[in-house]
Amino acid sequence: MLKGKDMLSIHDLSVDEVEEILALAAELKAKQKAGIRHHLLEGKTLGMIFEKSSTRTRVSFEVGMYQLGGQALFLSNRDLQLGRGEPIKDTARVLSRYLDGIMIRTYGHDRVVELAEYADIPVINALTDLLHPCQVLTDLLTIREHKGKNLKGLKMAYVGDGNNMTNSYMYGCAKAGMEFVAATPKAYQPDAEVTRLAKEDATLTGASITLMEDPEEAVRDADIVVTDTWASMGQEAEHEERKKIFAPYQVNKKLLSYADKRVIVMHCLPAYRGEEITEDVLEAHANVIFDEAENRLHTQKAIMALTMG
Ligand code: CP
Ligand code: NVA
Repeated sequence: MLKGKDMLSIHDLSVDEVEEILALAAELKAKQKAGIRHHLLEGKTLGMIFEKSSTRTRVSFEVGMYQLGGQALFLSNRDLQLGRGEPIKDTARVLSRYLDGIMIRTYGHDRVVELAEYADIPVINALTDLLHPCQVLTDLLTIREHKGKNLKGLKMAYVGDGNNMTNSYMYGCAKAGMEFVAATPKAYQPDAEVTRLAKEDATLTGASITLMEDPEEAVRDADIVVTDTWASMGQEAEHEERKKIFAPYQVNKKLLSYADKRVIVMHCLPAYRGEEITEDVLEAHANVIFDEAENRLHTQKAIMALTMG
């Protein structure tokens, strides 16, 4: 179903395609753990364009390609002619002549859309200012492992900045039939157009998408509580101001007392302890959070195998 397609946003995926990715991710994870060879991309090459920093994304895509029998090229913005102003549309057409797929992490989402428009190989969004779909698909896999395969009706409460993660959670929870609530300061709500589209997607699966300001109300009886940095990449200059604005949105023990007793806490990492999450909460939920980090590898292998295979 996904062969030859781009993976820019969970909104573009059908419910069945989300299921296909999660099912293959679980299968590849089991095979990797059992030492069973799964060279689904033998002889293929992925180009990885990074215009922002990364630990998890870079390592998991690169190792993932290797485990699938292919290879990955790390293409830093500092070294590419793209960084000196070569147009995206030319870069896309040139790279399409050498590679079998492109993964890109950048600022404006429009850059990824343009790259995909001009490339004739699959393009995978590895984070933009707007969306982080690979992370949220990973999180759905991780929730399945900890809460059971049927995600329908589970309540996820996101607390903090309405950012690229929040936007992608809205799309992911809508496709999965979940109840999604985000508590953010009024001026930091997730993207309005993404919210509108996610609400539309939600009507197809029985999901719900709710935005509010009160973190305690959002977290009430939640099965999953999730947060992310208060200052995303590119917002470093606002960090000090944001620390003051977001102080009431910290995920700490007191806030979690409103959640379901069996709540799991998730964080895409990197985490800023003492800001969006306390040290004790992060460490108490480290098993889930580091499963989440590991699952980037398995989920992205599935995405690459399905789109580039
Ligand atoms: N969660 C995530 O995308 O991490 P990196 O920025 O380290 O890739
Ligand atoms: N919202 C964060 C996610 C990092 C993985 C950022 O964009 O910096």
